[in-house]
Amino acid sequence: MHPGLKRYLKSFSIVIAASLAIAVLAVYLLSQRRLRHDYEVSVPLAPPRAALAAEGAQLARSRGCADCHGQDFGGKLVLDKMPFARLVGTNLTHEPGKSNPAREHERFYRALHHGVDMQSRPLLMMPSAEFTHLSAHEIEALSAYLAGLPYVRRTPPASAMGPLGRALLVGGKLQGFLSAEAIDHARPAVAAAPPLGTIAYGEHAAQLCTGCHRSDFGGGPMSHGGPSAPPAANLTPDASGLGAWSEVDFVAAMRTGKRPDGSDIDSAFMPWRAVGQASDQELHSIWLYLRARPAIARTTRTVQ
Ligand code: HEC
Ligand code: HEC
Repeated sequence: MHPGLKRYLKSFSIVIAASLAIAVLAVYLLSQRRLRHDYEVSVPLAPPRAALAAEGAQLARSRGCADCHGQDFGGKLVLDKMPFARLVGTNLTHEPGKSNPAREHERFYRALHHGVDMQSRPLLMMPSAEFTHLSAHEIEALSAYLAGLPYVRRTPPASAMGPLGRALLVGGKLQGFLSAEAIDHARPAVAAAPPLGTIAYGEHAAQLCTGCHRSDFGGGPMSHGGPSAPPAANLTPDASGLGAWSEVDFVAAMRTGKRPDGSDIDSAFMPWRAVGQASDQELHSIWLYLRARPAIARTTRTVQ
């Protein structure tokens, strides 16, 4: 090879290597700014009232906490896909002698209402944008329930973002992944949920559905869940939604995972096992609210 060309190629590859290094550094710095953002949340709280534990047990089951934190709440590896990310639902049980009930209550409030940890950093994947609607009373009940559970001696690895996950985050491809970015941190939690059995209670409880079924409840492709995820169904009273369903159909679908036509609702993407553990009165309220929503014509199911 001509020595000039060789020199040229060499300097060319140095330029490529340098640009790559700069791109990697930029992705790292831009993602780090969001992952380490300090939300400066401050919520000192009293220890939770133990009498609320039964209410908390019901909430923990029906709001799907166990899906990501483990059936015994001792923590769970939810996703292990480096170089994308490793996502681990934290061990939510308390180690005797090592945990302070007031601080644990605060940890729950920060995580559920703000989507941040004790250092006010954003939590990864924890769906706090939906849980931020829980009332202060409900958060206290959840905290009381977990405080009363036996400690599970298990230390799952910490959640971490890999280079691919960081690149997707910076590229705007991980919508809703950092709930803290979507939450209004100036707004405190409402004190208590509206009375059970009302449309208002249904609206309160149905906020849990909006992360997937969208805030208009008309459904569509989900921003998370990967390419194999089915679109979230249209839940409005339109014929393309739940128009033909009765309340009995709805409650049966949530309890059994079957649509009125006998087909299966995909439990890998629709948490019907959790939602189905809500009480009759809760499901009745959610149904009332879904029925009161404006009908939206949007076909989401590919197979009928
Ligand atoms: C879709 C999965 C998912 C669901 C559902 C979920 N969590 Fe989480 N949660 C996570 C992940 C993942 C983390 C850890 C995030 C991290 O380390 O950045 C987390 C973190 C937390 C933390 C913060 C712990 C800490 O170290 O500060 C609390 C508290 C918590 N979750 C409580 C709950 C409760 C209560 C529920 C149910 C109402 C719930 N979570 C439902 C995935 C989930
Ligand atoms: C984590 C995402 C997620 C959440 C949260 C969620 N859903 Fe779903 N839901 C789905 C997906 C995806 C489907 C479609 C499943 C399929 O095609 O098999 C679905 C399907 C359904 C169906 C079946 C309708 C049909 O025609 O197929 C009903 C009813 C339903 N969801 C109600 C709810 C309610 C009520 C809530 C809140 C209390 C809720 N979902 C919360 C993702 C979710």
